[in-house]
Amino acid sequence: MALLCQEKFFELYHKEAEYLAFCPYRICPIGAHSDHNLGKITGLAIDKGIHIAYRTKQNGVVELSSLQFNKRAQWHVREVPKTKENDWADYLRGATLQLAERYPVSKGLSGVIEGSLPIGGLSSSAAVVLVFLKALCHVNDIHPEPLELIMMSVKAENEYVGVSSGKLDQSCEMYSKKDHLLYLDTKDDSYELIPTNPAMKPYKIAIFFSGVERTLAGSKFNMRVDELRSAAYALAAYAGMEYGKFKETNMRDIPREVYEQYKDRLPDNWRKRAEHWMTEFDRVERGAEAWRRGDIEEYGRLSFESGHSSIYNWETGSPELKTLYDIMTHTDGIYGGRFSGAGFKGCCMSLIDPAFEESIVQKVSAEYLKAFPELQGKYMVKICRSADGLYGVL
Ligand code: GLA
Repeated sequence: MALLCQEKFFELYHKEAEYLAFCPYRICPIGAHSDHNLGKITGLAIDKGIHIAYRTKQNGVVELSSLQFNKRAQWHVREVPKTKENDWADYLRGATLQLAERYPVSKGLSGVIEGSLPIGGLSSSAAVVLVFLKALCHVNDIHPEPLELIMMSVKAENEYVGVSSGKLDQSCEMYSKKDHLLYLDTKDDSYELIPTNPAMKPYKIAIFFSGVERTLAGSKFNMRVDELRSAAYALAAYAGMEYGKFKETNMRDIPREVYEQYKDRLPDNWRKRAEHWMTEFDRVERGAEAWRRGDIEEYGRLSFESGHSSIYNWETGSPELKTLYDIMTHTDGIYGGRFSGAGFKGCCMSLIDPAFEESIVQKVSAEYLKAFPELQGKYMVKICRSADGLYGVL
């Protein structure tokens, strides 16, 4: 059966799309707000994501429509506007620039993009960039390594869109493998895919959409990253460590003992950001070991702790997301969970025992809509499974 993006392509161009490519969304149960300061993360890709139906354009024009946004976007691969236009396609303009800086790009494409879930928390921005880059590489016969694609996508976000994100999202969406947990060190890009232990209790992934969609650039995301980096810089100075440029200083450079010794000298906000980072680093390591031995209850508990630290130390979370988080923590059958992603709007993810699926959906939905009746019709639950992160031309 044709996908909606394929149907839309036909409606617009009166021709079938030649190709279809796909990139999954990701969840990160433990390892939040760690990657931009070179921490470790755990994550999985899910069986929902972004499709692009497309055809080559020999004249170098990129012409894109999205089923989620009204405005059609267009640019030439060699004349990408140097500054962003503040619309959904900025990520893709930035990605075109990144690719064109490294490779000879002469062909463009016409394409229709379709996301299978609401925007916010699952890193649709990284997925749309990766799937678009894959398509643009394909029509230009370019074959970058996975890490290079990840870096082009991160740089598009950092330099063109202006969000100080790390490489958690892209790495999960690229490297994940069905029924495995990705355990990645963002400092040196080493990673391990930890298989689901046969002794592990069964699990599914429940995503609770708050009904409020978000944008990272407009959020306090960058400020939190700056606060954390400031803490790292101050700690290095207190300890008499050698330090370089501010932007190149990361919390990963600071040994835990240095943090413990000097943390009380930090301004309260900076100390809290550092406390989140340090404890999250620890949780990721413990979480990876719990997954290895098949202890999903412990892994889930650590994910709940991660959510708690994101609220009280990282100080993020809209009232809607905090309410969802609270409900999840006292619902039977949920191993654990937290805000998915940056936590300013969007959704919460949880790992659930499939035997409780119905009662979980019923309880969380009833309690949430009691608190936010105006979000009836916008709030939504989706049950997903772990999936391969390898994306590409289908
Ligand atoms: C967003 C960013 C990621 C990461 C998470 C928080 O998804 O894009 O790089 O920082 O937030 O963990």
